[in-house]
Amino acid sequence: MSNLKVYWDQQIVGTISRHPKGKITFQYAAELLKNSGRQISLSLPCQEERFSPGVSTAFFENLLPESDARTILAFNRRFDKKDTFAFLENFGEDCAGALSIIPESEDILPHSSEYRCIDVELQNALQAIESDPGKHKLYPELANARLSIAGAQDKLPVYFEKGSFYLPENSASPTTHIIKPASPYFHDIQRNEAFCMDLARQVGLSVPHSELYTFAGYELFLIERYDRFHSENIVKRVHQEDFCQAMGIPFHRKYQEQGGPGFLHCRELAEEHLSADISVVKQKLTSVMTFNFLIGNNDAHGKNFSIIHKDTITLAPFYDLVSTQVYPNLDRKLAMAIGNTYRHDRVNQSAFVKFSKDMKLRPEKVFEMIAQTTQKVEKIYEEVLSIHEQQYGEAVIYADLHTVLRTNLARLQEMTSK
Ligand SMILES: Nc1ncnc2c1ncn2[C@@H]1O[C@H](COP(=O)(O)OP(=O)(O)OP(=O)(O)O)[C@@H](O)[C@H]1O
Ligand SMILES: [Mg+2]
Repeated sequence: MSNLKVYWDQQIVGTISRHPKGKITFQYAAELLKNSGRQISLSLPCQEERFSPGVSTAFFENLLPESDARTILAFNRRFDKKDTFAFLENFGEDCAGALSIIPESEDILPHSSEYRCIDVELQNALQAIESDPGKHKLYPELANARLSIAGAQDKLPVYFEKGSFYLPENSASPTTHIIKPASPYFHDIQRNEAFCMDLARQVGLSVPHSELYTFAGYELFLIERYDRFHSENIVKRVHQEDFCQAMGIPFHRKYQEQGGPGFLHCRELAEEHLSADISVVKQKLTSVMTFNFLIGNNDAHGKNFSIIHKDTITLAPFYDLVSTQVYPNLDRKLAMAIGNTYRHDRVNQSAFVKFSKDMKLRPEKVFEMIAQTTQKVEKIYEEVLSIHEQQYGEAVIYADLHTVLRTNLARLQEMTSK
C-alpha cells in the first residue's frame, strides 16, 4: 500500500502510513535526522522510530477541517470522515504551517508555482451559500484544490492578489490569505471578526492584517496568513502548529473541559519551549485573556493559539478573535477556564487570583495587566465601532458588540478595582 510523503520547504521530513480504523503513523526520514534535524512538532521530537498511531494521528488530524466541511468533503470524495489518511491524501498539499503532504506515487515535485483564478466560481459559490446555506459550504464547493485548514467555521485558504482570488494548482503554490463568508446562522459574523481583530490591533495585541472585503457584493472576512511570506516574488511557507498539536492533543479534545489545554498548560509550554522572554509571553497571554473576556469570546480554545517554528520557537500572532457572546444560542462556556470557572458570568476576582497562579505571576501584577488592557479597550472601542459602522454601513451587530463590551468593561472594572 502506498504511503504519503511529508515535505517542509521541498525537503522530505518523513512518511505517513495507513493504520487501521482511520488512523495513521508517522516516521521521520533518515535524511532529515541526518541533516537539519528540524522537528515538525513539539509532540513529535526527532527520533528514528515510527510514532504511535495516537500521537501521529493527533498531530496530522489537527490540520483538517472540522464539522460540516469535513462531512461534506468526505462524502463528496466517497471516504469515511474519520479516515485521516484519505483526508491527508486528498487535501494535504497546503496546510496550516509549512508542511505539504503528497502521495508517494507522485515522485516529481513541482518547483514553480501555478495558481488558477476562481473569481467566477467563488461568486457562484457565495450565491449558492446565500440561497441554500444548509447545503452549500465555501470550502467543499471549491475544494478541487488539495488544501486543508482547521476550524468549525466555513472558510477557504486562497492566494489573493490585486482584488482577485486564486487556488493553488500544485504543492509549490502556497495560499496567502484565508476568507470567511457571512453565515446565515450567526448574523454579521464577518463584521464581528473584522471589528474584534481591528480592536485587538489598536490595543496593541499582535494580530495579522485583516479586513472586511466586499467581493461581487458579498462581504468576506479576509485575513493575511502569518505563516506565509514573500521572498523575491515567491510565496514561502513558515511552519506553525497550534497548542493542541504541540501538546499531542486530538482536535475533538480542544476544549479544556474535554482534556484540552488550559492557561496553566500554555504557560508551561511557553516556559519550556519558547525562546522569547517568558515575562513577555505571560503578558501577551494575560492581555489576550482580558481582551477575550471583554469582547465575550468564549471560544478561545487550544487550537486558537499557535507557535511558530523558525530558527527559534515563538508565540504566533493571535487570530479568531470574535465575540461569541453576541449570539445567545452559542455555548456560554469558556473554552479555557479563568481560574476555577468555565462560566463567563461567574468570573470574579478570585478567578483572576487563581489565573495569576496558573501564570506564575503575582496577583497584583496580573491585575495591573488586566487594568492596562481594559483601559485601552475602554478608550477606543466606541470610536472603532463607529468607524466600522461608517465604513461598512449600519448593522445590528455593532449595537450588540457595543452592549457586550460596555457590560463586560463595567464588570471587569468593578472586579479589579476592589
Ligand atoms: N491569519 C492566519 N495565518 C495563519 N494561519 C491562520 C490564520 N488564521 C487562522 N489560521 C489557522 O487556521 C485555523 C482555523 O482558523 P480560525 O481559528 O480562524 O477558524 P474557525 O473556524 O473560526 O475556528 P474555530 O473552530 O475555533 O471556530 C487556525 O486554527 C489556524 O491554524
Ligand atoms: Mg479557530
